[in-house]
Amino acid sequence: MASKLAPWAFRSSARVLRTASRQQQRQFRVSAAPRSDTLNVHRDTPDNNLNIPFKFNAQNEKLIQEVLSRYPSQYKKAAVMPLLDLGQRQHGFTSISVMNEVARILEMPPMRVYEVATFYTMYNRNPVGRFHVQCCTTTPCQLKGSDGIMKAIEEQLGVHPGQTTEDKMFTFTEVECLGACVNAPMVQINDDYFEDLTPETTKSLLVALKEAAEKTGAGGMAPGLPGMSGQDEVSGPGGEGKQIPEQGRGYAAQGAKLPAPGPFSGRKTCEPSHGLTSLTDVKEWDPKLMRTDGELD
Ligand code: FES
Repeated sequence: MASKLAPWAFRSSARVLRTASRQQQRQFRVSAAPRSDTLNVHRDTPDNNLNIPFKFNAQNEKLIQEVLSRYPSQYKKAAVMPLLDLGQRQHGFTSISVMNEVARILEMPPMRVYEVATFYTMYNRNPVGRFHVQCCTTTPCQLKGSDGIMKAIEEQLGVHPGQTTEDKMFTFTEVECLGACVNAPMVQINDDYFEDLTPETTKSLLVALKEAAEKTGAGGMAPGLPGMSGQDEVSGPGGEGKQIPEQGRGYAAQGAKLPAPGPFSGRKTCEPSHGLTSLTDVKEWDPKLMRTDGELD
């Protein structure tokens, strides 16, 4: 003991005081509490537990075979993401049974599938509403007013990020960049992007979606996550819907009208919002300037 105390006796008093007053432990920091709605652990719930069986339907079985044919058989686990996506579209969300079925098909340890499904936020680990409204709040969107869009959604739906409306029609999620920054601020609803939004256009979009769902009886929990163009019974160029002629964009079906996905500012795509800064010899917008091979239709 004496040998441990002795060095103190020989140090200068100033040094002793300095050492004694210095904080002797490191600051312990933790990252900020996650604001995401995604709880990355599984808890059994009535909607999501091992007793709820899941099997792919015949149509998806065919698609799975097609996806698997793209990979050498020893690397078929590379197909985990498209298979999880198919499972989510069929079941409505990526339940524990969906993940286990994917693991069985790909002959992977289930834990490896859980790791993928809990890493990527496009896999919904819990049931979502008929319309999954994902609002981007990353820097470009934030600089162009995503705070106002978030507020407008909260006001219109009466829910906060991570919550679903009581009628199970809308789930509201705050997300990171969705890759449409040039058309910020924007939201993704199911498979479609709605861009160049203002708080007013955001509210009117939500109203139109709700009305359309009510008129067509498509309310309630998502039976899958269809896009609103192409597959959905409410609207779409490939569905029963007709383009609304007087508006030039947007779709109507069964008495319901919906705005078309894309920019709400009058832009066609992501061309400069204040006019061309290059290719200025192009006098008029002409669809012939676009690809005509059908790939962009
Ligand atoms: S920052 Fe919002 S889409 Fe990129």
